[in-house]
Amino acid sequence: MKRRNFIKRASLTGLGLAVAPSIISCETEAKTDKKAIAIATPVLPIVVATWNFKNATKAAWKVLEKGGASIDAIEAGCRVEEADLKNTTVGNGGSPDRDGNVTLDACIMNKDGGYGAVVCMENIAHPISVARKVMEETPHVLLAGKGAEQFAVEQGFKRENLLTEASKKAWLKWKEKSEYKPIINIENHDTIGMLAIDKNGDISGGCTTSGMAYKMAGRVGDSAIIGSGLFIDNTIGGATATGMGEEVLKTVGSYLIVELMRQGRTPQEACEEGVKRIVESNPNYQNFQVGYVALNKQGEYGCYCVHGGFGISKYQEGKQTYIKSNAYTKKA
Ligand code: GLY
Repeated sequence: MKRRNFIKRASLTGLGLAVAPSIISCETEAKTDKKAIAIATPVLPIVVATWNFKNATKAAWKVLEKGGASIDAIEAGCRVEEADLKNTTVGNGGSPDRDGNVTLDACIMNKDGGYGAVVCMENIAHPISVARKVMEETPHVLLAGKGAEQFAVEQGFKRENLLTEASKKAWLKWKEKSEYKPIINIENHDTIGMLAIDKNGDISGGCTTSGMAYKMAGRVGDSAIIGSGLFIDNTIGGATATGMGEEVLKTVGSYLIVELMRQGRTPQEACEEGVKRIVESNPNYQNFQVGYVALNKQGEYGCYCVHGGFGISKYQEGKQTYIKSNAYTKKA
């Protein structure tokens, strides 16, 4: 990296974040970045996640503050949301597809470029942990459907019914009209993508979801697909996505953002470009949400989204912060 860029980036973590209030915006940080001139050491460890997933980032922080590895923090954090029955777009309690089946997608990436994923997996509450087993225990990177479930059971995961009474009731109501119209910041608002850097400076990431409510049977979104819902490069940083997976997949969004950071963009600039690539080639953008969060190796982060209402949760220096994302359009 050019020295000028390093100075610019490093300064943000040392100056901008040191004075950060508990609610800030990514754009405010980007402006601070342009003005900053001093050199500072990155403030590590750090964890960021899509949306205001306080409990998830807290669980990840508990691992990081004890000196744990970022991959362990990611798994611990993502598991919190997967276990939350009130969260209808991740793990247990997720909304079903249009046939009434809860199918889960998740992936994880480690500091060594390792990747593991499961898609369309049923009856197993913690796909992030199964994804990690795929990465660590198999010669493959992605298992789907029945094969993923069978592998999970062989690894000691127990089968359970993931369709809660509340999700079943909502699905039966949806069936009365059977209209597939995802609602911005509502039906797709809880996919968790998480990025963490540990005290050794190593970055890992994870992304886990039950996908779009009432999707077609067999539909797979971006969350578990390398380069789309998540990408990590331990020499550069990482990016992760939430929202309408089809749009993220078409632009390979997370990979794009990491590559833009490699070329010298800040995480904020890279997230903004990622959203622009989606919006500027898609006249339908008023009808869907996509949100990105990125974190570089200097501990600098950014976020951006198509419509207002998105934000990220951060834990750093023992303090949790909610950061409001700026949007391509304020009209949700
Ligand atoms: N971003 C989650 C999904 O589209 O499945």
